[in-house]
Amino acid sequence: MREALVAQARGCAKLGSPMYAELLARAADDPGGAVAAVLGGRAEPGAVLRVLGTVHRLVLEGRVPELAEHYPTAGGRKDPLAAWPAFRDVLAEHAEEIREGLADPPQTNEVGRASPLVGGLLAVAAATGLPIRLLEIGASAGLNLRADHFRLLHEGGAYGPESPVVLDDAWRGLPPVDAPLTIAERLGCDPSPLDATSPEARRRLLSYVWPDQTARVERLRAAFEVAARVPATVVRSGAADFLDGLAPRPGVATVVWHSTMRAYLSEDEAAGLFRHLEDAGAAATEEAPVAHLSFEGRDAALLSAVQVVALRLWPGGERVVLGEGPSHGLPVVWF
Ligand SMILES: C[S@@+](CC[C@H](N)C(=O)[O-])C[C@H]1O[C@@H](n2cnc3c(N)ncnc32)[C@H](O)[C@@H]1O
Repeated sequence: MREALVAQARGCAKLGSPMYAELLARAADDPGGAVAAVLGGRAEPGAVLRVLGTVHRLVLEGRVPELAEHYPTAGGRKDPLAAWPAFRDVLAEHAEEIREGLADPPQTNEVGRASPLVGGLLAVAAATGLPIRLLEIGASAGLNLRADHFRLLHEGGAYGPESPVVLDDAWRGLPPVDAPLTIAERLGCDPSPLDATSPEARRRLLSYVWPDQTARVERLRAAFEVAARVPATVVRSGAADFLDGLAPRPGVATVVWHSTMRAYLSEDEAAGLFRHLEDAGAAATEEAPVAHLSFEGRDAALLSAVQVVALRLWPGGERVVLGEGPSHGLPVVWF
């Protein structure tokens, strides 16, 4: 367990969370201590992430004020790198609740992935000239179903309306920004959908973001504001069931979009999903096109630090890689 915690501390340091790196390094140096007791022998990244997420939720709920003083997400002004003593006390005092959190799958929704999404939608709009019927599988809270209401900054200026969500350094190179982008329908699915307007769901989403990654936290909070005024529906369903019976619709480009979700599908479900897409693609016409737009690892079945923006557009359906970027989406380099 010590080695696993040290490895994850290094991972957090490399990926930009000095705070979690420090907490995990201290936990590794505390054999038989509070973290080890809660983990009960489990030290895989998923379990550690769940413990950190549950503690962060207690912070955001205002239930552990001393520890919250070290969390920038809760307005804390004390050094995040000095959080260990208070963190250890919270682990000991709330051990049972935190242990229960081990059964709770983490749930995230990364707003930075609007960067590949908007660029891909512009490519569809440029090719078809039609409004978009946007269907997102694995949509989580559906924040990116509102991506056309975000502002994306790039070297040459800005794209999109004035918005609380401003994505810095969204694009290197440009997608076809002059294409007319209109979203006619926003519908998503997720086996664990979250209501982006509910305070509890918002805390849940925030709890899995690293507390010292302030840019990610800020764009999540800003996206909650947009979600409160731009409606979008996320139904409870797996991806393959959701797309069962998918058919093109005249007058709109039907776009099925997903990001960082393919790795969560069984091979059976993935096969079903691709079959439904192929069927809808085979029925597509110039007036009723169908697109499959994704932002996933090059080996889509694996989680990966670098992801590619891929598009298939029917009639035709040839796969084109449009760009690539880090898994959080910023910046996407357009090819
Ligand atoms: C890492 S999150 C990504 C969420 C969102 N796509 C994003 O980019 O922010 C993975 C999402 O896939 C969802 N998921 C897991 N299994 C799924 C399935 N069988 N069908 C559809 N979504 C699934 C999870 O509930 C979760 O919301």
